[in-house]
Amino acid sequence: MKNTINKISPSLLSANWSNLENDIKQCEAGGADILHFDSMDGHFVPNITVGPMMVKAVKSVTNLPVSCHLMIENPDLFIDKYIAYGADYVSIHVEGNPHVHRSLQIIKKHGAKAGIALNPATPLDYAYEAAQYADFILLMSVNPGFGGQEFISSFFKRAEKMRNFLNENGLEHVEIEVDGGVKIDNVKEIVNAGANILVSGTGIFRGNIVENIKTMRSKVSQ
Ligand code: DX5
Ligand code: ZN
Repeated sequence: MKNTINKISPSLLSANWSNLENDIKQCEAGGADILHFDSMDGHFVPNITVGPMMVKAVKSVTNLPVSCHLMIENPDLFIDKYIAYGADYVSIHVEGNPHVHRSLQIIKKHGAKAGIALNPATPLDYAYEAAQYADFILLMSVNPGFGGQEFISSFFKRAEKMRNFLNENGLEHVEIEVDGGVKIDNVKEIVNAGANILVSGTGIFRGNIVENIKTMRSKVSQ
């Protein structure tokens, strides 16, 4: 049971970065709710992408909210920059972060929605103590670092447990985001398990972006 609406969040990692504005316009035309922006530093994950400056570029061509998924070490040093450049949501991983409350406080102080991100093998308990200070919990359904990986199906039980925990503790308003391997074919089952912010990279950007988003929407509103 949840009281939140489903939000489709294309992951720009799989967009065409040589013509990003075009792909963002396609996301808008398809009715996307939030753009997902992956920052990777080559330390927290074995891949490097882009930083806050690129958030500014994205925000200059769209009014859609942007959610920055920080797969970086020492995120506290950079959160203010992401938000100054336009991030509306920021998620930080608990792994290797001894000060999760502080990170959430920094995000909120600068006016963005704060998310706690968990890798697929991280016990859910790592989010419980700080959940009341978060706006959303990001449950990874792949090990972060790359697009196009296979969905890890232990997600379903984890999402159900997390949803139950939130509801039992007066945190119904805290949203659950899923990221990794989300496709048209499994999105309905994912929503049934309790997630409502649906990040999808290759599931949206491979093929017709507008059609993919619309089909995904139809699956989750049935
Ligand atoms: C992976 C990123 C994801 C990625 C998802 O570490 O956090 O946002 O873009 O890509 P797909 O949907 O292709 O698994
Ligand atoms: Zn992501």
